[in-house]
Amino acid sequence: MKTKLESIDSDRVPNHIAIIMDGNGRWAKNKGMQRVFGHRNALTAVRESVNAARDAGTKFITLYAFSTENWNRPKLEVDALMSLLVSSLKSELPNFHKNGIKVNSIGAVENLPKKAQKVLESIIEQTAINTEITLTFALSYGSREEIVNAIKNISKKVVNNEIDVKKIDEKVINNHLYTFNLPDVDLMIRTSGEQRISNFLLWQMAYAELYFTDVLWPDFRKEHLFDAIINYQNRERRFGKTSEQIDTNV
Ligand code: FPP
Repeated sequence: MKTKLESIDSDRVPNHIAIIMDGNGRWAKNKGMQRVFGHRNALTAVRESVNAARDAGTKFITLYAFSTENWNRPKLEVDALMSLLVSSLKSELPNFHKNGIKVNSIGAVENLPKKAQKVLESIIEQTAINTEITLTFALSYGSREEIVNAIKNISKKVVNNEIDVKKIDEKVINNHLYTFNLPDVDLMIRTSGEQRISNFLLWQMAYAELYFTDVLWPDFRKEHLFDAIINYQNRERRFGKTSEQIDTNV
C-alpha cells in the first residue's frame, strides 16, 4: 500500500501553494475556549504543512497569517496574534534551518508593531541562505491594496519618464507587487469549509486551482496537504486551451 506522499507524482507537484488558514476561532469555540486558544494551537498545522509541502517538492508556500481587515478584530486578539508571530518566528528558527526553509514576507509590514518587524527582518536575513522551500507570511496583507500600491508606483515612474506607458504589461505589474520575487500560485487551499478568496493574491491566483476542505486549521496535518496535492494532480489545467490541445501538447 502506497503512502499518500508516494502517491504524489513528483513531476507535477504544484510549485507554489497558498493557504488561507481559517477556522482557529471555531476550533477553540468547539472546545469551549477563547479564540486566542485556537491561534495558539495553529502552529503545529503551520509546521506540518510547510514541512509536507517541502517533502512533496513544492518550492514556494505562502500563508495568509494576517490580513489588512484583521486589524479590525478586538485589540486583545490582534495583540495575541502579534506576540504569537514574534514567539513562533523565534522558536521555529532551528526548524527553518533543519528543513531548508527560507522565510519571506508580503504585505504592509511597516504597520506591524516594531518588535514584530525587527524579529521578522532578522529571521528573513538569517534564513536567506536556505534553498529547499520559500515560506512567505502574508502579514497586514490585502490584495487590492497591493494592486493600488503597484498602480501608484508605476504611475510615479511614468510621470518621471522612467516607464513608457506603451511598455506597461503583465511583467511590469508583477514586478511592482509584493510578490515580485514569487511565481504565480498553482494551488490555493482554504480550510474550515468557507469558499472565498478574501482579498488574497487576486492577481497571482488567476490560474490557480482552488481546494476547499472542512478541516479546521488547528487540525490540519501533513496528510491533509498531501490530499490537496493529489486532488490538484487529478485536475486538468488548461490555461484557456482545449483538452485536445493539452493532450497533444500544441
Ligand atoms: C483564521 O482563523 C486565522 C487567522 C486570522 C490568523 C492566522 C494565524 C495563525 C494560523 C496563527 C499562527 C500563525 C503565525 C504566523 C504566528 P479565524 O480566527 O478567522 O477563525 P474563525 O473563522 O473560526 O473565527
